[in-house]
Amino acid sequence: MANVVVVGAQWGDEGKGKLVDWLSEQADTVVRFQGGHNAGHTLVIGENVYKLSLLPSGVVRPNKLSVIGSGVVLDPHHLASEVEKLIGQGVPISRDNLRVADNAPLILSVHRELDALRESSNAGTRIGTTKRGIGPAYEDKVGRRAIRLMDLADPDTLDDKIERLLSHHNTLRRGLGLPEFQAAAIREELMSVAPKVLPYMDTVWRLLDEERRAGKRILFEGAQGALLDIDHGTYPFVTSSNTVAGQAATGSGLGPRAIGYVLGIAKAYTTRVGEGPFPTELDNEIGNRIGERGREFGTVTGRKRRCGWFDSVLVRQTVRTSGIDGIALTKLDILDGFETIEVCVRYRLDGQEIDHLPASQSAQARVEPVYETIEGWSGSTAGARSWADLPAQAIKYVRRIEELIGAPVALVSTSPDREDTILVQNPFEA
Ligand code: GDP
Ligand code: IMO
Ligand code: MG
Repeated sequence: MANVVVVGAQWGDEGKGKLVDWLSEQADTVVRFQGGHNAGHTLVIGENVYKLSLLPSGVVRPNKLSVIGSGVVLDPHHLASEVEKLIGQGVPISRDNLRVADNAPLILSVHRELDALRESSNAGTRIGTTKRGIGPAYEDKVGRRAIRLMDLADPDTLDDKIERLLSHHNTLRRGLGLPEFQAAAIREELMSVAPKVLPYMDTVWRLLDEERRAGKRILFEGAQGALLDIDHGTYPFVTSSNTVAGQAATGSGLGPRAIGYVLGIAKAYTTRVGEGPFPTELDNEIGNRIGERGREFGTVTGRKRRCGWFDSVLVRQTVRTSGIDGIALTKLDILDGFETIEVCVRYRLDGQEIDHLPASQSAQARVEPVYETIEGWSGSTAGARSWADLPAQAIKYVRRIEELIGAPVALVSTSPDREDTILVQNPFEA
């Protein structure tokens, strides 16, 4: 019985939330293993819309266990407010269905401020982050000065930890001419939220190991996308975590054999939020048309997403860096009515044709897409729930994408709604 990992195969917002929600019907446990509340996962279930940033997308189904692993950077105030929001929408959340890793590092106001400050300054590189403190929190984790969830349960040791954290941050702040953070304020920030989040704390690696041994099905929910991965993405225009499938093991505390099947989520075109290279970007009428039809505005920041044609070079690369077994191709309906559709099949770099995205920042900025033109379809794919509902030409498009990326299409999504999903091969039974 395969545990399934869902990862974004592009630059995020591929529709992971919808697919995790759909797949979670067959799972016992859904686990977030990296990122934080920079994610924005949208679930549409009939009349109800749920926007999740930190909570796993299985949380809306009854009798599923939601787990936040230690690979996640946790803003405790955000967790408390997201839990409250969901409860307000009629979703019951308690220790019965939510557990958070005791060793998850926390995002604090120092991190949010630093993130926002760097983004608003003209010095250095603007990344276009979500300004939620993700990068600075991961820096402190790797720098071995993070305050972790379990520390809230041990107030006697907290002062030393705050001291260590602030000795780093206040040095930085003095250099920037900013007022220093006071230890008492950080302590208050932590102690005020402790009673709201500590009830969910658990030894997550052990819990998941027990689930596994008991034959429960685990679904791992990735955030962001493989091209935002700190190692394999378009560095430095990336997020600060590993977003590839291998991280599902590390970020939840299980071994690599816990992962049975890797499902990559890819849009039938490409989008990106924030700065950085985007070879197939369409800064024109066609890009606007895709953006309007696809409602391409960020869930977290409301920013307009940049839009472009499907880039098979990139997805072929992420199929390999994440070990993707199958793809869920989403938002096929957005391409309805285009007379022709372009797909990038290679790049041209300095007069030569290449079949991958080079690692160098300057080369990534220079690559030009080489397109193959595919005939569009006049019929509608919107709401299709079986192959038979798809226009022949749309099927041809999907088949050509499979060929180009070197991975089969396991699912096709044709609207935001949970039910509008075509199942080709069930990842849990593969
Ligand atoms: P995630 O971050 O990968 O979970 O994706 P987001 O939720 O940020 O963005 C995907 C958006 O597209 C959401 O508004 C979804 O409701 C919507 N969506 C997902 N799949 C489809 C689809 O097949 N067709 C259409 N039209 N919208 C979709
Ligand atoms: P989901 O899970 C799309 C992008 C930001 C920025 C870069 C770094 O909804 O797919 P960060 O705040 O993480 O330091 O920002 O990463 N980014 C996302 N783009 N979808 C996301 O998540 C993203 N999370 C971060 O726009 O370019
Ligand atoms: Mg999103």
